[in-house]
Amino acid sequence: MPRLNEDLIARLRADLTAADFNVTGVTEFLGPLASGALLREQPLPARRAAGASTEPVAILVRLFTLGDPVDVAEVDRALPTLRAQGAVALGLVDEEGDGVVARVDVRPYAADERHWWIASDLAEVATGSPVRNDHVLGIGGASTTLAAWTIRRPVGAALDVGTGCGVQALHLGAHTDSIVATDLSERALAFARFNANLNEVEWDVRAGSMLDPVAGQRFDLIVSNPPFVITPRSGEVPLFEYRDGGASGDAIVANLVRSVGEHLEPGGVAQFLGNWEVPRGSTWTDRVGSWLDSAGVDAWIVQREVQDPAEYAETWSRDGGHHPGTADFDAMYAAWLDDFAARDVESIGFGVITLQRPVGDREPFVDLMDARGPVPPAMGDVVRVGLEARTWLAEHSDDEVLDRAWTATPDVTEERHTRPGAPDPSVIVARQGGGLGRIITLTTVTAAYLSVADGELTPRQAASAIAGILEAETDETEREVVAFIRDAAKDGLLV
Ligand SMILES: C[S@@+](CC[C@H](N)C(=O)[O-])C[C@H]1O[C@@H](n2cnc3c(N)ncnc32)[C@H](O)[C@@H]1O
Repeated sequence: MPRLNEDLIARLRADLTAADFNVTGVTEFLGPLASGALLREQPLPARRAAGASTEPVAILVRLFTLGDPVDVAEVDRALPTLRAQGAVALGLVDEEGDGVVARVDVRPYAADERHWWIASDLAEVATGSPVRNDHVLGIGGASTTLAAWTIRRPVGAALDVGTGCGVQALHLGAHTDSIVATDLSERALAFARFNANLNEVEWDVRAGSMLDPVAGQRFDLIVSNPPFVITPRSGEVPLFEYRDGGASGDAIVANLVRSVGEHLEPGGVAQFLGNWEVPRGSTWTDRVGSWLDSAGVDAWIVQREVQDPAEYAETWSRDGGHHPGTADFDAMYAAWLDDFAARDVESIGFGVITLQRPVGDREPFVDLMDARGPVPPAMGDVVRVGLEARTWLAEHSDDEVLDRAWTATPDVTEERHTRPGAPDPSVIVARQGGGLGRIITLTTVTAAYLSVADGELTPRQAASAIAGILEAETDETEREVVAFIRDAAKDGLLV
């Protein structure tokens, strides 16, 4: 793992900058074909491109991205101030014959117009073998999902639980005043400290399990891509630190949901990813809802995927670098099936959890929604707007909802489905173009209201007119309109 030597890290930073070893530089050098293949963990096109060039960026790709042996003279050319010797001293490479071979993956990363380098353990694609139990992950799909869903408004104190290589903490640096980054793994903490130094940012890095290192402390924003993978504890499956938090079933996520509230300032927000088990005869909302019973926080949880036990076993048996058809893979697959069967688990959900400590002493709101369709790449603003809308709705009465002139947002369209020859539509829906892509079935009353929701008319005025035209009770019409507004406004179809 990397060593913290500030002078050598400064040289590395200078050399990586001079070599244009940033996302744009590497992508332009590799071209779309090799870059795309690398994203699919196929190194061959990148190896061909990098092998045919003597540019510093090509040497760095061969060394750090592909894990290929590189001559000392070439490394000295690509890292002219650090040199191969300095890279050895930093623990980034080992000498091997006439050359050196990387022991660490160092890659550029960019988001929201910021550029970083991230060191992590070499992935299976570079080593060709299953990863070690204390493997420190680089940037994975879950890392970018959490980063994309995190609300990026300016806040004071932030916490990243299970920081690993520190990718979430790097993102937090763009909009928070101070950052505490925790992890159980000493190896992960060494990478986090190294990356903070390499990227010239300061974090308070602490060792310990989940929220233990921040006992008695409160934050404005807590993020965690926790070790949420449900892992059999019978011995057949390696307990990889990056995905297994040391608890049975989905307890690691359940405990985090139950206990994070006491670490949030009023109005503070916690955002996590998680898996949950759904035992036969119950629903995911029963399961996750039970975690919230005495959590004392607002909750908006979006289920994004559902797998059955076999699909889950296949995903995670493969994840550690084991291949279908091998004895190891089959033993793990069977262990997962047995583990789920022992708790009568029928399916496993995955989703994004957003919790908020209410300001004042109102009842927390709970919204558990299933939204598995495609969403925009950057969800932070969608979550911020949705959380603000849910908070406003929780803090205001139906009368207040009725007296506010709502406007249908420009991405909302109405669809009418009519049986051939029928005079009236049998189904009318409102479809949201952005955000979570909500589709809400409309009634005659709510379709009529939506058609006049232009920011001029209040729902009370509209309901009265609609009740008159339909010869319906005004009270009843108002109730229907309020229920619709509460549902549509929370996801931004009405503002
Ligand atoms: C899925 S990785 C996330 C890494 C990084 N934050 C990201 O978003 O890519 C989970 C991290 O949690 C750490 N971890 C595992 N068990 C833990 C525990 N009980 N308490 C705190 N961190 C733990 C692992 O070492 C790993 O770094």
